[in-house]
Amino acid sequence: MEQAEPQVPHVVFLPIPGLGHIKPMLKLAELLSRASFQVTFINTQRIHDRLLSTDLLARYPEFQFLTIPDVVPRDRPRSGTMSPGDFLLAAGPVIKPALRQLFISLCKKKGRWQPATCIIEDGILSSSVIDVAEEFQVPVFAFRTSSACCIWTYFHVPKLVEEGDVPVVQDKDMDKPVTCIPGLENVVRRRDLPGIFRIERADDPGLEFFINDQTLVMPRAFAVIINTFDGLEATMLSKLASVFTKMYTVGPLHGLSNARAKDLTTSASSNSILWKEDRGCMPWLDSQPSRSVVFVSFGSLIGLTRDKMLEFRHGLVNSGYSFLWVIRPDSITGEVDPSLIPGELKAMIEDNKGLMVSWAPQEEVLAHPAIGVFLTHSGWNSTLESVYAGVPMICWPAIGDQQINSRFVSDVWKIGFDMKDSCDRSLIEKMVRDLMEDKREEIMKSVNKIKKLAHETVKEGGSSFSNLEKLIDDIWSMSHFARKERSD
Ligand code: UDX
Repeated sequence: MEQAEPQVPHVVFLPIPGLGHIKPMLKLAELLSRASFQVTFINTQRIHDRLLSTDLLARYPEFQFLTIPDVVPRDRPRSGTMSPGDFLLAAGPVIKPALRQLFISLCKKKGRWQPATCIIEDGILSSSVIDVAEEFQVPVFAFRTSSACCIWTYFHVPKLVEEGDVPVVQDKDMDKPVTCIPGLENVVRRRDLPGIFRIERADDPGLEFFINDQTLVMPRAFAVIINTFDGLEATMLSKLASVFTKMYTVGPLHGLSNARAKDLTTSASSNSILWKEDRGCMPWLDSQPSRSVVFVSFGSLIGLTRDKMLEFRHGLVNSGYSFLWVIRPDSITGEVDPSLIPGELKAMIEDNKGLMVSWAPQEEVLAHPAIGVFLTHSGWNSTLESVYAGVPMICWPAIGDQQINSRFVSDVWKIGFDMKDSCDRSLIEKMVRDLMEDKREEIMKSVNKIKKLAHETVKEGGSSFSNLEKLIDDIWSMSHFARKERSD
C-alpha cells in the first residue's frame, strides 16, 4: 500500500478578539512552532490592524497571520458592553462563512504551507468552528482560556436554573450556598457563580446560546486544551474528564513558554500585544523596598467608574503602602469626562507613593521583589501569573470566570482575599494591611506551596510539560508522520 506523504504539521489558531484569549493562544502557538510546526494565526480585522501598529507580527516572522471580519462594530466602546452570550450570537454568522472561505485554501498545499492538520479554536466559539471544520474533515482542539472550575459550572446550567440559583439576581440571596454542582457543594455561593449568570431571565437568549452552542457542543471537538495545571485544579479536572474524551492541561502556559525559552537559550517573547508596555515602572520598582508595593491591574477588558476609582485610590493611600496602578486609557466608564480622571488621580498622589502606567509588563512586574500584593480583577491569566510569581492577591472580580476564580483564590487555595461585590475604601485598606502584615505569614505558606507546584508542572517530568509533549506527538501523528522519524 502506498504510504502517506510525510508532512510537517500545520496548526491553525483562532482566538476570540480579546487579549486574555489571544495571549495564551499565542504562547501555545509559539511552543508548537518551536516543535517545528507551521502556524497560521487568525484574528479579526480590528485586532490585526492593531497588531500592525506594534512589533508583534515581526516577532513571529514564521507565522502566517490571516483575518476574518469584525464581529463587533468598531465604533462600539469595548469596556464591558457586550455579554459573552451576545458576542457569540453575533459571532456565528460572521465566523462561519469567513472560516469556510479561509479553509478552502488552508486545506490545500500552497507553496511551503502544508494543508491544515488541525484547528485550535477558542473553545468559546465551539459550534461555529466545529460545524465548518467537520465539513472540511479538519480535527478541532477546543482551547479554553478560563479555569477548570468555571468550565465545570457551565455544564450545570439546567440544574442551576431548576434550583433557582440562575439567574443570579444581584442583592437577592447572593450568599445562599449552591448545592447542585458536584465537587463545589461547600465552595460556591450564588455570588461566586460566573458573571454570565448575572442576567434578568433564565431564558436569556445569550445565555441559552452560550450553553447550548458553546459549552454542550465542546465535547464534539477532538480534544480540549485548558490553560491550567493538575496540581491546582485536580478535583475539577477529574470531573471534567467525565465530559471530555481527551483533555490536555498545559498551564500555566506563560511558565511553560518561559521554561522552554531557557532550555532553548532563546528569550521569552515580549508581552506587548495590543498595548505598548510602559517599562518606566521597572526602575521605579527597583527603588522600592522588598515586598512593599501593591500592584493594581484589572486586565484588558473591564472598566471602572470615577467613584470606584476614588475608593481604590483612597483605600490604597490610606493603607500607607506604595502602589503601581495600571490605568488603561479606555478603562474609565461613566459620565465624567474620562480624559480628566488620570490627571485628577495623579494630582492626588503624594510623596511619590504611587505610580500609574497605561500598560505594564505585568509578568515581569509580578516577579519583581518589590511587589508584595496584587490587587486584581481575577482574570484567569492574571491569576495564573500571580500564582506562578508567588504573590498573594486581593480580588475584585467583574465578569466571566472572574467571580469563581476569586472564590477559589480565597476559599480553596487560600492565597488571597476576595472583595467581590464591594468597593469600599476601608475594606481595601484593611485587606492591604492584612496581606502585608498580620495575615501575611499564614497566607504565604499556601502561596509558596502552590508556586512550587506551578514551577514543577512546567519542568521536565511535570504534568503540563508532559501533556504538551503528548499534544505535540498527537498532532504529529495526525499529519501521518511520527515524531521520532522526524528527528532521525
Ligand atoms: C479575559 C478574562 O478576564 C479571563 O478570565 C479569561 O479567561 C480571558 O479573558 P482579561 O480580562 O484581559 O481576560 O484578564 P486576564 O485573563 O487576566 O488577562 C490579562 C492579560 O493582560 C494578562 O496576561 C496580563 O499579564 C496582561 N497585562 C495586563 C499586561 O501585560 N499588562 C498590563 O498592564 C495588564
